[in-house]
Amino acid sequence: GGRSLEETLERLVADVPDFPEPGVGFKDITPLLADHAGFTQVVEALAAPARDTEGAVTVTKVLGMESRGFILGAPAAMQLGVGFVPVRKAGKLPRETHAVSYSLEYGEATLEIHTDAIAPGERVLVIDDVLATGGTAAATIELVERCGGVVVGVSVLLELGFLDPRSKLPGTPVHSLLVS
Ligand code: PRP
Ligand code: MG
Repeated sequence: GGRSLEETLERLVADVPDFPEPGVGFKDITPLLADHAGFTQVVEALAAPARDTEGAVTVTKVLGMESRGFILGAPAAMQLGVGFVPVRKAGKLPRETHAVSYSLEYGEATLEIHTDAIAPGERVLVIDDVLATGGTAAATIELVERCGGVVVGVSVLLELGFLDPRSKLPGTPVHSLLVS
């Protein structure tokens, strides 16, 4: 029973034209977050790359990037029965960090992780809402690798395929629920 993932996404992800500026279409996931069954189904789909064909969990951590990655990553970690690691914007984490900067359209941004958040050899699933240029995900993979961890995949709700984000993530499996 139940609805298909495609139907859930179609029904609960709203297309908002001309946001944040004219000519740009925005995918609003807040109706999905507000729907218990839909949110649960989508979090299960995002977590799927962390399971083998028998359903056994193959990662030891789920990581989410501030801020929208926290909304999807934390419940995925809870469903999988593993811990959650936050990657945060610069200056937010209180203890020793690794930091990676990456370029934006204008200027640059820095992401950080606690150096002890991931132990050497840990297997990590990275979850975010959107993969656009791939810069956020590429910086996050570098942070995990600085800790000695292995990214087994990047899972996102929406991939902006026309920006070719996968070219920034060579060797990392990318799992997208929607591609536009
Ligand atoms: C957005 C989005 C992704 C990122 C994707 O986050 O949530 O994390 O951009 O873009 P990229 O692939 O080009 O790096 P943003 O930095 O706007 O911050 P937020 O999550 O705090 O809203
Ligand atoms: Mg983000």
